[in-house]
Amino acid sequence: MERTYAGTLRRQDIGSTVKLSGWAWRIRDHGGVLFIDLRDTSGVCQVVCNPEKSMESFQVAEKVRNEFVLSVEGLVEARTEDTINPKMETGEIEVMASRLEILNVADPLPMIIEDDLDASEEVRLKYRYLDLRRPEMQRRFKLRHQAYQITRRYLDRQGFLEIETPVLAKSTPEGARDFLVPCRFSPGTFYALPQSPQLFKQLFMVSGLDRYFQIVKCFRDEDLRGDRQQEFTQIDLEMSFSGVDEVCTLVEGLITTILRETIGVEIPVPLRRLPYSEAMSRFGSDKPDTRFGLELGSINDIAGRCEFKVFRDVVDSKGLVSGINLKGCGGTFSRKEIDDLIAFCQQFGAKGMAYFKVTEKGLEGSIAKFFSPELLSEISQRFQAQPGDLIAFVADSTRVTWDVLGRLRLHVANKLNLIPKDQYDMLWVVDFPLFDLDEQGELTPCHHPFTSPYEEDLDLFETNPLAIRSRAYDLVLNGSEVGGGSVRIHRRDLQQRIFDMLGISREQAQLRFGFFLEAFRYGAPPHAGLAVGFDRLVMMLAGCENIREVIAFPKTQKGICLMTQAPTTVDPQQLEELSIRVAED
Ligand code: AMO
Ligand code: AMP
Repeated sequence: MERTYAGTLRRQDIGSTVKLSGWAWRIRDHGGVLFIDLRDTSGVCQVVCNPEKSMESFQVAEKVRNEFVLSVEGLVEARTEDTINPKMETGEIEVMASRLEILNVADPLPMIIEDDLDASEEVRLKYRYLDLRRPEMQRRFKLRHQAYQITRRYLDRQGFLEIETPVLAKSTPEGARDFLVPCRFSPGTFYALPQSPQLFKQLFMVSGLDRYFQIVKCFRDEDLRGDRQQEFTQIDLEMSFSGVDEVCTLVEGLITTILRETIGVEIPVPLRRLPYSEAMSRFGSDKPDTRFGLELGSINDIAGRCEFKVFRDVVDSKGLVSGINLKGCGGTFSRKEIDDLIAFCQQFGAKGMAYFKVTEKGLEGSIAKFFSPELLSEISQRFQAQPGDLIAFVADSTRVTWDVLGRLRLHVANKLNLIPKDQYDMLWVVDFPLFDLDEQGELTPCHHPFTSPYEEDLDLFETNPLAIRSRAYDLVLNGSEVGGGSVRIHRRDLQQRIFDMLGISREQAQLRFGFFLEAFRYGAPPHAGLAVGFDRLVMMLAGCENIREVIAFPKTQKGICLMTQAPTTVDPQQLEELSIRVAED
């Protein structure tokens, strides 16, 4: 007899004989009759083992323990009115066992297989294969599967070719540390696992394979956070004879199709495009969550005229004094809650957080004495202050002020439950700066060194290089960066100019990207592309808070796989073959 999936049985199956295979999830003894909830990947169904119907299966059932692997044959029957379980999809029926076979036994499990489980994450990761038995986990990986299939279908229809690129590759310039793989044939040389297929995909454009995509693993040795893993998956794509508009339109089509077909969410396109500078000045973030207000407002023009030395000094040193009206918090927040906000700001590098409480009488607080009534009324108007509000300010370098207020905005929104969780808000952040400063204060590419600048901005190099804008764009969904890309430089003279600006010498450029630069001498078309962080996208679809929840075998914050214990030491002989000696400290 052919196998039926337990979770698919419904009222219309009543009267048919079925064969089910799966795991014994819950077992109950109701006075001489045994009930087994049989679970497979489709769901659960109740199996009844009644000695009056089949003594043989009842006797087998008596031996069944949690998570035994079973095969059952029986008749689908209607449940009596009082035993219908509306919480179960199969709650109207049950299968009366006529044959029951134990296909395998199971030891008592180190964790229970339940959705609302109390097992620690360590246990879940150590026994990931058991954790993955949980219906919630199975749902997530079905969602992930759907997203792969929709992506392939969509991009295929748009004329994209799926092409693989090497994993044993050469260091790429995405800015993280590389994972290195020693080469046995040539001691002392190493492959680098790709941080992304950036260079290869641009070479496809030179090859005339003018629409490429790949669902690809990328490897970055960076500090891990809730939305980062060392190995993660991208939907990587590149297209020739295209610019920002073509890429944005294509990616909007792809992502909205995925959202519609997986979770039924409809997002209107075209998405709005927010210049980086506006994202930062209004939201303090280059991945703004715009599902709620609490926008930032600069008061440099006002602060320059007040007597509060902290503010004046920051304005004089070309920093930024900016604030947020935390609506209603002036009336409701205790002294301790306000002190906590100050500590929060300090934790992220601010020297303090100054504030006004708004009352019927106007703006009040310890710094009010430094402001004339006119200035207070200007501030009041700028923030549309109403009695009960709390207006909080940070004064610092522009970078610190934006960063701290951006975090404060999210912190307070979470605290006050202002973020509508069922809403999906997606937008582009565009016109990123071309350069950023690294820890040594040197210019470094914001995206990567092949990103096209606005050529008309290049004259700023002498005066204000950080103000040069690039044709880079990020896709932001509910405050998370789910994709990023850019229009590339395809002309050698411009590429050389950017390398010069970055202080990359011709020799260095030759050494690192010589093969790539040479390719661009033989007719490179204009091209642009983007990569979607696939795990992050699935995480949003599944409503998860951590990227590990949607990766089958993820690693911990310290980069350890708790199940296999990787990374481990290796056999000395393996090291010898690779001509590697481990330095003893
Ligand atoms: P970028 O470095 O912005 O661009 O990466 C693209 C997207 O990948 C996701 N992402 C990550 N997801 C999980 N863990 C990580 N450690 C991680 N790092 C990045 C993010 C991000 O938006 N080659 C370019 C793309 C291009 O220019 O075409 C690139 O890799 O969602
Ligand atoms: P003080 O004059 O040091 O007592 O500070 C008065 C208020 O200004 C306190 O609430 C401090 O937290 C705040 N404050 C101090 N430095 C800064 C700063 N750089 N930006 C914003 N607020 C600050």
